[in-house]
Amino acid sequence: MIRPKLFMALLAGVVLLASGAVAPAGADVIKVGVIAPFSGPFAIWGKQFQDGITVYQAQHGTQVDGQTVEFLYRDSGGPNPDVAKSLAQELLVRERVDYLGGFVFTPNALAVAPLIDQSQTPTVIFNAATSAINARSPFFLRTGFTLWQVSVPMAQWAYDQGLRAVATSVSDYGPGLDAEAAFASAFQARGGVVVDAIRMPLSSTDFAPFMQRIKASGADAVFGFLPAGPPTYAFTKAYNDAGLRAAGIGFLGTGETDETTLDALGDAALGLNTAYHYSAAHPSSVNKAFINALALHDPRAVANMASVGAYDGAHLIYEMVAAAKRDGPGAVAAAKGLAWESPRGPVLIDPETRHITQNVYIRVVDKDATGRLFNREFATIEAQPDHGWNR
Ligand code: PHB
Repeated sequence: MIRPKLFMALLAGVVLLASGAVAPAGADVIKVGVIAPFSGPFAIWGKQFQDGITVYQAQHGTQVDGQTVEFLYRDSGGPNPDVAKSLAQELLVRERVDYLGGFVFTPNALAVAPLIDQSQTPTVIFNAATSAINARSPFFLRTGFTLWQVSVPMAQWAYDQGLRAVATSVSDYGPGLDAEAAFASAFQARGGVVVDAIRMPLSSTDFAPFMQRIKASGADAVFGFLPAGPPTYAFTKAYNDAGLRAAGIGFLGTGETDETTLDALGDAALGLNTAYHYSAAHPSSVNKAFINALALHDPRAVANMASVGAYDGAHLIYEMVAAAKRDGPGAVAAAKGLAWESPRGPVLIDPETRHITQNVYIRVVDKDATGRLFNREFATIEAQPDHGWNR
């Protein structure tokens, strides 16, 4: 006679097998591969992406409909398309990830386009900001920003301030070229003149010669783009040190005064104007909750475009998992038109571009009562799409 306990155990096994619940190990885990710099000059980005995701999971749990969402991190270093591609390959083939995320640098995102197409893997870009990326694969979505999105409002605001002659000075690769084209088209459309268009090698570390060229151009202001980190720090320092500020040449930027670089720059950043999608000083309850959760996770964690891009990226991935689990095309379909309240303000995934529609804020670096620098938002250009789509 078979003992009841053993019988029950055997029966349970049969039922589990029949229901498919005894599946290969890890089948109830949805894996998300995150490719970002965790070493080298841009290493802070990887940490900040991870902080944003960790905080999202702390607030919302690690499970969606009984499936655990697990994030796997891989270090791409800086702009290294070959490394990014082989990391994506490893994540897709060996780890069998269901989603990809991360990407600070445009060339790294572009490099994975054929892989995500082949494998139909929804890939959420947290930062890489060249407009053309999302057109390269229908599986790309983006929760960061584009240079077209922020540079058009910057140019319009600059013109409205009475500026008529601007020099552009950009890193010579995708997002820099987008920034240059976007600023010029919007500024010239209003009647402004771009007096010089400087393209700086991505590897530049000495910006003094470019500052001399800007001075010589007769510009009222300089509009710049460089990847946020050591390059934006050095460029902004050079703007002060070479006497452009003292000469009354205005500064028009985007990510130069992000909350990481801002602390490093100190008073050299005071008064600088930028157009951007996120300030840690954004006055909303959702942003306060985000900042409190970040501080709880790590008192040194920084609320900036990187941590908020990843936080919203995690949200988008959770929504896709809830709607479509591992069905890549179904997940992307579910993401289209999705709207929510981000720490940056109201956002929407544009159904056509799969890019995030969001407010762009014109800001100035100010000092609070404790002497801490912050980006004070003083004008809101609402619901900006990616102005660079299909250019
Ligand atoms: C990019 O390569 O697209 C990029 C990198 C760093 C930024 C912005 C854009 O701060």
